[in-house]
Order: sequence, then C-alpha cells, then structure tokens
Amino acid sequence: MNVNMMSADIKKVLITEHQIQEKVAELGAIISKDYQGKNPILISILKGGVVFLADLMRKITIPIEIEFLGISSYGKSTKSSGVVKIVKDLNIDIRGRHVLIIEDIVDTGLSLTYIKNMLIARNPQSLKICALLDKYEARVQEIFIDYPGFQISNEFVVGYGLDYAEKYRNLSYIGVLKPEYYKQKGDYNLK
Ligand code: IMP
Ligand code: MG
Repeated sequence: MNVNMMSADIKKVLITEHQIQEKVAELGAIISKDYQGKNPILISILKGGVVFLADLMRKITIPIEIEFLGISSYGKSTKSSGVVKIVKDLNIDIRGRHVLIIEDIVDTGLSLTYIKNMLIARNPQSLKICALLDKYEARVQEIFIDYPGFQISNEFVVGYGLDYAEKYRNLSYIGVLKPEYYKQKGDYNLK
C-alpha cells in the first residue's frame, strides 16, 4: 500500500501538512521559552506520539532529552478503557526532572489521566502535557492540556502518527477515514 493508495481511503483532509507544521513550529517556540534552562524530558507515548515528537523536537531550540513510553489499552483496540498496560517503560528515573508528555490525541482522556498519575507518583519536578489534537466532545475524564494543538470534532481521524488497525500512521496530514473502512469491522465505538 503506497501513500496514494492510502489517500483513496480518506473521506476528507481535516488538517493539512502545512497547518500541522505551522502549529508544530508555534508550539516549539513556546516550549523553548517556557523551559529555558530546565533541560526537560519529552516523553512520547508510543506509537501515535512519535511523528509529532520527531517534528516538535526539531522546533525546540533549548537542550532537551527524549524518552518513550509504550502502552497498550486493555480490551478492544480503538475503544479506550482507561486502564493501560505498560509495554515499554521509561529508561530513566524522572524524579526531580521537568517532564513534558507528547501525545497525538486526547479523546476520552482516560489513558492520559492514567499515565499522568503513574508518572506523578515518580516525583518529577513538574509534569505537563502537549497534545496535537483535542477531541474535546469525547471527554470522559477532564484533563488539562498545557500545550494544545488543534481542537477537533468527534470523528475518527488517521495520519501523522494516528492509526486505524496500525495503518495510515505515515500520512503527512490528518484525515477522516471513509466509514466503510472501519464501520464494518465494528471495533470502533462511534460516539
Ligand atoms: P483516550 O484514553 O480515549 O483519550 O485515548 C487516547 C488514545 O486513543 C490516543 O492516544 C489514540 O491512540 C487513540 N485514539 C483516540 N481517538 C483516535 C482517533 O480518532 N484516531 C486514532 N486514534 C485515536
Ligand atoms: Mg496514543
């Protein structure tokens, strides 16, 4: 499946590559200013947050470190249960450090709340959240996003790290999948 073949599965482009890159540059500039002299650790949540981290970190002009946290939700693949299993833990101790979580999307807010509480228990000096997409209408658990990108409506989106059944992560834009590509499978809860 090449990129053009993937585009055929997309109903509409929600956020263009250009819009994403502008937002990423904007966020990078703000983060660089806020974390001056703090050597923060950017923690990307695998796998969706990886594309965003890769672009964002290159728009940050201060020293940073990066880490990866691998999680998988219990239960059905695309429906958040709020209980996440750590499949790859951090390689370092975050005690006393400034931590910035880099996430692709906040949907119900359940996964991120779980992760946030788990990391706070490790006593970082600070912990903040940067999320490219905010599906605010779907929120079940209120969670403050310190560095938000775009607010989007309650549609299932793919691209720029986000997948459906592990596909479409390599699209450079955020798109809405044609319903026939996921409805039939019946494993996404269309709210
Ligand atoms: P939450 O616990 O419902 O906030 O789940 C967030 C996670 O669900 C994200 O990190 C994504 O991996 C996944 N997710 C939520 N909405 C979408 C979407 O529209 N497309 C792809 N993945 C999504
Ligand atoms: Mg994710």
